[in-house]
Amino acid sequence: MTLLSPGEASELADSTAAAFRTAYGADPAVIARAPGRVNLIGEHTDYNAGTCLPVALPHATYAALSARTDSLVRVRSAQTDDEWQGAGIGPGEVTGWASYVAGVAWALRQAGVDVPGLDVCVDSTVPLGAGLSSSAALECSVAVAIADVVGLTDGETLRHQLVAACMRAETEVAGAPTGGMDQTVSLLAESGSALLIDFLDHSTRAVPLALDDAGLAVLVVDTRVSHALVDGGYASRRADCETACRELGVPSLREATIDSVEALGDARIRRRARHVVTEIDRVARAVDALEHRDWAALGEQLVASHASMRDDFEISCPELDTAVDAALTAGAVGARMTGGGFGGSAVAVVYLDALDSVTAAVDAAFDARDFRRPAFLRATPSAAAG
Ligand code: ADP
Ligand code: GAL
Repeated sequence: MTLLSPGEASELADSTAAAFRTAYGADPAVIARAPGRVNLIGEHTDYNAGTCLPVALPHATYAALSARTDSLVRVRSAQTDDEWQGAGIGPGEVTGWASYVAGVAWALRQAGVDVPGLDVCVDSTVPLGAGLSSSAALECSVAVAIADVVGLTDGETLRHQLVAACMRAETEVAGAPTGGMDQTVSLLAESGSALLIDFLDHSTRAVPLALDDAGLAVLVVDTRVSHALVDGGYASRRADCETACRELGVPSLREATIDSVEALGDARIRRRARHVVTEIDRVARAVDALEHRDWAALGEQLVASHASMRDDFEISCPELDTAVDAALTAGAVGARMTGGGFGGSAVAVVYLDALDSVTAAVDAAFDARDFRRPAFLRATPSAAAG
């Protein structure tokens, strides 16, 4: 079994600084790190004022950054060949991957922070487009680096301000209509825990994952089917949820009851709303299972969540279904697709002594169906950006 390595943080910080020196001829003022994430449960609930339970990955993005004396922003990434530079960094002025970086500087300026021109160089061990929030890791690494370079005081208040700026970068500058889970966990996670996020009031609570003591691991299967959030599937699910709210006369699906949802006239809208309402309930049950170390109950919630996304929200795909089925057949305690859907990754809770057989089973199932070779990584619950 080969697991995708998160790399050594100090080595990645050093190599990102070295790339910065090569590109810009001086040392960076600051190097920041921000993790990708895998969501244990609670999908498409964030923009419905619901709850979710993501875990910060050891895989992260590193941003080396210095202030400039003019207003130019220059951006380089070890993951792309092209350098971007410009002084216009708001919506419509920057496109492509650089919009995630420049957009953060723009959003912080909108929030009243005096952000100067910047030189930025990034590198990452979060696989891009795998549903593991490489984009949020990119935004959050840049946000933390900017906050440091302009002298903002770190703490809970700043972290929430940075979450808001990263969300504006993603939704308004990069144009991906996402809901905030990814930026929140990247900036507020606690090592060793999953982060329960409640989007009704944006509060968070660390839920310790005592999986190690129980001999369990969180395994991520990257199907290598790339999803694209800027494409229509995600936005159309959001629109369906808004339609359901209008029909039900509630401000968000958090306020809807399952009985009112089951009475909705349109079958598709009913299925979408049913997923959200039942998923919020499953998050609570999963937290309860974790707190009682009831792994079988946790597994049941993960499996039910996958079925709901496959059948009601209709955001799975053959590769995700195959990964989940193969993992469960090979003995995983629970498994489900994770993230926005339409590709990306699945997450499984697996006994350590079954890791090899589960990854082998997923490999074999993908091979049998002529899918691309999946990649695997272990989600050791990691700390927030810093
Ligand atoms: P995910 O967040 O699931 O990886 P997204 O589609 O939200 O997928 O974000 C992936 C996009 O983010 C990439 O296509 C690229 O534009 C940008 N991106 C993320 N990380 C980097 C990076 N290290 N360097 C350059 N671009 C990046
Ligand atoms: C994407 C998106 C998140 C969340 C998730 C589905 O990862 O960025 O905000 O909506 O899909 O739960």
